[in-house]
Amino acid sequence: MKSTVDQLTRQQATGFPIQRLRRLRRTQALREMVKETTLSPKDFIYPMFVTHDYGQKREIPSMPGIFQLSIDMAAKEAEEVASLGIPAVLLFGLPTAKDPVGSEACDPQGVIQKAIGHIKEAVPEIIVITDVCLCEYTDHGHCGIIEDGYVDNDQTLELLARSALSHAEAGADIVGPSNMMDGTVGAIRTILDDNGFELTPIMAYAAKYASSFYGPFREAAGATPSFGDRRSYQMDPSNSREALLELELDIREGADIIMVKPALAYLDVISRAREAFSLPLAAYNVSGEYAMVKAAGRNGWLDERRVIMEILTGIKRAGADLILSYHAKEASGWLRDEGLRR
Ligand code: PBG
Repeated sequence: MKSTVDQLTRQQATGFPIQRLRRLRRTQALREMVKETTLSPKDFIYPMFVTHDYGQKREIPSMPGIFQLSIDMAAKEAEEVASLGIPAVLLFGLPTAKDPVGSEACDPQGVIQKAIGHIKEAVPEIIVITDVCLCEYTDHGHCGIIEDGYVDNDQTLELLARSALSHAEAGADIVGPSNMMDGTVGAIRTILDDNGFELTPIMAYAAKYASSFYGPFREAAGATPSFGDRRSYQMDPSNSREALLELELDIREGADIIMVKPALAYLDVISRAREAFSLPLAAYNVSGEYAMVKAAGRNGWLDERRVIMEILTGIKRAGADLILSYHAKEASGWLRDEGLRR
């Protein structure tokens, strides 16, 4: 038998054997009791790609399970989303025609403007958030107006503001500028306030990086730049202090919800943002993050369901209040099934 003195010395040095962290890991019930992070369907926002035509549902090859949906199908999908307990959808539009200034982005008869009404009619309680950007609508695929091969910031602001206003007029509950022009949030706040929409919140894609993880989205939304890339307006993946500045400026301009995007390679940024600011914080689990998991799952290289729940839990644990994710529906279904089993 070891002497009491020996044992005390060991305890002072390491905590063991008095402390055994495995005690609370022994059973499922104990683990559940001390769980620090729990996911709920309420945490999610489900992104959708909407097209004009009728009765269409086209799967996006690099995003199995995600579809381009015609407006009527999008309304049906929104009903399913709501029935799973997910509070909000985020709409991206595929226009009929593209031009240098992305005219359909501001058109009252544009795809998003029309979709909002149909979705709200089908599911009045769902929160409809609209993506405010020009890249889906411009023929060159950039997020703003091109002047001598460069995306012109200040001319773009006016179009973005008009686009956001047209979304609010069509009944959007929240507008979500994702274009990364300087001053966007302020321009949108001003035009909304001037037109009686002072209660329409702005979810700002505040720290959005120039990421290669957007690849599948560009196929889904038909928004690949025809020349160059987005590095003159989206952030350099190397920077995190700059992300705090982007977030702070958007808050000062009137953002109601701030976002970090993408999520997985930027969990440190999410965590720093959570510490620094009190506004609701969203994180975007983007298309490339989804595609990687689906590809590996399809090959049998990963346990897809467990990996998805681990990823979503990790994003929430890092500090996100809201998670924009293409996994939202499947994850909510699993959460519901687990709830039933307990
Ligand atoms: C539009 C926009 C993009 C995404 C959301 N809004 C693409 C981009 O900036 O190139 C990406 C979303 C995703 O990858 O899931 N600017």
